[in-house]
Formats: sequence, structure tokens, C-alpha cells
Amino acid sequence: MEAKDKFIIDTILDTYSNIDDPQLVILQNIQEILGYVGEEYLTYVSENSEYSLTELYGVVSFYPQFRFDPPGKHTIKVCSGTACHVRGGSGIAQELEDILEIKPGGTTKDGLFSLESVRCLGCCGLSPVIMIDEETYGRVKKGGLQKILDSYKTEEVAE
Ligand code: FES
Repeated sequence: MEAKDKFIIDTILDTYSNIDDPQLVILQNIQEILGYVGEEYLTYVSENSEYSLTELYGVVSFYPQFRFDPPGKHTIKVCSGTACHVRGGSGIAQELEDILEIKPGGTTKDGLFSLESVRCLGCCGLSPVIMIDEETYGRVKKGGLQKILDSYKTEEVAE
């Protein structure tokens, strides 16, 4: 792990050393600043705090907001909110996982896509909804996702 990453985590641990049960806020800060909460970061936190590696993994696995891998070039947010859920959002989420071969919090092997599950993207009238970077895709259909993803791969080849 790079010295600058250790410095960042030391600073975060120091900053929250006086609050009750800072585990969650420490992990949120690490992800916000370093982009993800990978194994090396969790190990370093466990070695320098009261929290065991098992406890830290438990928290990171429980909250879908956490990412184990460095973020990919494009971030896909799939909505798991109520409006999207009742209109087939879970099928969309599953199809994305199948195509990309990752779970929420993961990044594809080629580093092109990261997948996140979010509660609501704020455009429930378009459900089911996904977002890729800043682009919103509404009323997405199973079977239509590959075409959307391919457009990002084509863009990659053109660059
Ligand atoms: S519930 Fe999916 S956008 Fe609001």
C-alpha cells in the first residue's frame, strides 16, 4: 500500500477517534477519498484500530454503497427502489450482474464498468431506471441492456 494511502487512512482514523463507534464513518471516508474499500485498506484499518478484519468485512458486505474494487471507467447505478422494483428492477439488476459477471460493489475485469445498487435515482416515473455515469436510462427492458453496454464498449474502441 502506498505511503500516501496510509497517511490518508491515519488521518481518517485520527479524525474520528473521539466519536462513538466510528466504524461506518471511517469506511465511508476511505471510500470517498480513495475510491473503494479494498482488502489492503481494510487490513490496515484493522491493524490500526479496535476493529477486526471480520467486523470490517461484515460492515462493507452489509451496505451496498461500498465498493471492494477500484472504480471502473463507467459507473452503472441500478435502482432497487420500490417503484423500480415493482416494474421489474430486480430482473434488470440480475441481468446486469449476469452480463458483467460482477455483483454490486464490483468492477469488471477489463476495468470498464463498476456496478452499484442504489435506493432511488430520483426519476421513479421512468422506472425501471439505471444510470451510467451521468446518463439516465428509463423504462429499460430485459434484453435491452447488452445494446446499451455495447455502446460504451464501441466508444472505448473509437477513443
Ligand atoms: S425507485 Fe427507482 S428511480 Fe425511484
